[in-house]
Amino acid sequence: MLDFRSVTKRFGSVTAVDRVTFSVPTGQMLGIIGRSGAGKSTLLKMTNRLSAPSNGEISWDGRSVSALKGRDLLAWRAECAMIFQQFNLVPRLDVLTNVMLGRLNGMGTVKSLFKLFSEADRRAALVALDRLDIAQTALQQAGTLSGGQQQRVAIARALVQQPKIILADEPIASLDPLNAKLVMDALKRINREEGITVISNLHTLDTARQYCERIVGMSQGAVVFEGGPDDLTTDAARAIYGAGEEFDEAATSTSIDGRPSPEAPAEPARETPKVVGL
Ligand SMILES: Nc1ncnc2c1ncn2[C@@H]1O[C@H](COP(=O)(O)OP(=O)(O)OP(=O)(O)O)[C@@H](O)[C@H]1O
Ligand SMILES: [Mg+2]
Repeated sequence: MLDFRSVTKRFGSVTAVDRVTFSVPTGQMLGIIGRSGAGKSTLLKMTNRLSAPSNGEISWDGRSVSALKGRDLLAWRAECAMIFQQFNLVPRLDVLTNVMLGRLNGMGTVKSLFKLFSEADRRAALVALDRLDIAQTALQQAGTLSGGQQQRVAIARALVQQPKIILADEPIASLDPLNAKLVMDALKRINREEGITVISNLHTLDTARQYCERIVGMSQGAVVFEGGPDDLTTDAARAIYGAGEEFDEAATSTSIDGRPSPEAPAEPARETPKVVGL
């Protein structure tokens, strides 16, 4: 179980995450929603210790994540695989190598620099690619793949880390609806088949309802909603987003309407207002 206890993160005078307390049972698929700046990414970054809380504690199965150091910290980062909106692949390297890079996570830099991939690494990478139905792209340069394919490569790279948790920060925000569905289906399948806990920041309500067993809503750093998909009514969403009667759910929809082709190139990143220094 992943446990957040009064977790707070301050950046100067800004409280990005404000006394967040909730637990995620092992194997759950959890969605986090909330308007831009609500603190969703900050919460994920603290979970895999890309950043540390100002106050409060995050623990996994009773062990404090905040206290980890050195080798234990590297091991934790490997156990918490992250997936980003922008895929974060090395575009000039082939797909197989990109996936094998996941095997280096959890090692010190020097060791990983000199590590040559083994046959076992290669096999694990191919198996992961095959599970995501993109094994045929293994020798292609990653940068030449469609957005949806690239995100599935990123999921394969996460899988070869053998993570306990997958933290996905808006994994479908740069994808057309059909590719968004492929990526969310892949995350759900991994969650079900491997029992890996998945925590995903999402900006579309229908995706959260369709794929997540539980949804947490954040506003101004605090948790303002917690419930199942059926509890996320339009009124509840209005409260989370601090919106009035003009709130239009359709604007957050990812439903497939037959528009783009599955192999369409990635759409430009969704623009979200952020402070300088991110
Ligand atoms: N490194 C940082 N330095 C200063 N302020 C930051 C930093 N990271 C985040 N913030 C601030 O913390 C708040 C929460 O940001 P965060 O990126 O977590 O929001 P978010 O919910 O992920 O938003 P979005 O939907 O736009 O991705 C914002 O006010 C942001 O400006
Ligand atoms: Mg964010």
